[in-house]
Amino acid sequence: MWISKIKINNFRNYELQEINLEKNINVFYGENAQGKTNIIESIFLCSMGRSFRTNKDKEMIKLNSENAIIEIEYQKTDRDGKIKIELGNRKNVYINGIKIKKLSELLGNINVVIFTPDDINILKGGPQNRRKFLDIMISQLKPNYMHNLNLYLKTLEQRNNYLRQIREENKDENLLEIWDEKLAEYAITICKYRNEYIKKIKEKIKKIHNEITDNKEEIEIEYITECDNKDNFLNLLKSRRKLDIIKGFTTKGVHRDDFVIYINKKRLDIYGSQGQHRTAILSLKLSELNIIEEEIGEYPILLLDDFMSELDQKRRNHFLEKIDNTQVIITCTDKIDIENKNILIYNVKDGNVFKGGN
Ligand SMILES: Nc1ncnc2c1ncn2[C@@H]1O[C@H](COP(=O)(O)OP(=O)(O)O)[C@@H](O)[C@H]1O
Ligand SMILES: [Mg+2]
Repeated sequence: MWISKIKINNFRNYELQEINLEKNINVFYGENAQGKTNIIESIFLCSMGRSFRTNKDKEMIKLNSENAIIEIEYQKTDRDGKIKIELGNRKNVYINGIKIKKLSELLGNINVVIFTPDDINILKGGPQNRRKFLDIMISQLKPNYMHNLNLYLKTLEQRNNYLRQIREENKDENLLEIWDEKLAEYAITICKYRNEYIKKIKEKIKKIHNEITDNKEEIEIEYITECDNKDNFLNLLKSRRKLDIIKGFTTKGVHRDDFVIYINKKRLDIYGSQGQHRTAILSLKLSELNIIEEEIGEYPILLLDDFMSELDQKRRNHFLEKIDNTQVIITCTDKIDIENKNILIYNVKDGNVFKGGN
């Protein structure tokens, strides 16, 4: 699939900007803090309904403006489409001019795989980074997943509130069972999806990683959860009840899930070098790309934020050769040289985008 046009109005440091894109490679280069990542963010927003770098939609509205509007036109093999998002006091999302009721309806229209300098945290940082990676991938393919996850998080919050009420107001402890039952129901569904997708990653990542490392490294991925069986999870919640009440929050559940990566049978997060982390991320993301391609029948859009700055020219060309049928949107600080016919270059300067650059 590919995006043909982006129109942004009062979004971040842009006032009004229309950008036409090329089917294959698009490069946005410019100095720091000019608005390159903001373009990537606007695309991600139209894909996922939220930013990848903030939970506060308001931050994306241009300072001293009331509303931001982002419009994206895209083409898939079987259909064209248009997404419009208005950010203001509320968030309104339109698909082909029709306002949607639930944000999950947006998912799956524009499929993306994003590479950012922060990706290193997926494997180096805390488990919330790994869950976020899984959540972004699975939600695009299974809107029902996001729906369940939202219900789970809402129930979790209610359960946590009730735990504190038991502690502070002596509320009836037995009523927790109502929350436990609901929580377990959503948890099992989420866990089922995550298991399914970790399995898919497993099937892809070995070969990809072998190729990238010239067969020097063997990669393994393992999902860690305590929620794959409803009765067991309910018993676990019960056995942790006293502790949960003391702490005032739920100490077990899919909000604590994680996955571990092993390189040559050793845990990457503990024993891995910087280089091994980078390659493992690349393998993980390329697996994601292949899984999405397999499920939707075409390649998702690749968003490479500052990504190329980490690769030398030879690796860059090699990487871009491999993703021939894919639309790629690259940001970088130098006007990089790519051997490709279908390439469009833009210079980004202080919230303005100039074709060709100079
Ligand atoms: N809500 C906003 N209103 C106005 N300007 C913003 C807003 N959010 C960010 N900016 C500006 O956008 C610029 C950063 O854009 P970004 O795309 O991250 O830069 P880069 O080109 O380095 O990727 C900064 O100059 C910042 O001040
Ligand atoms: Mg940037």
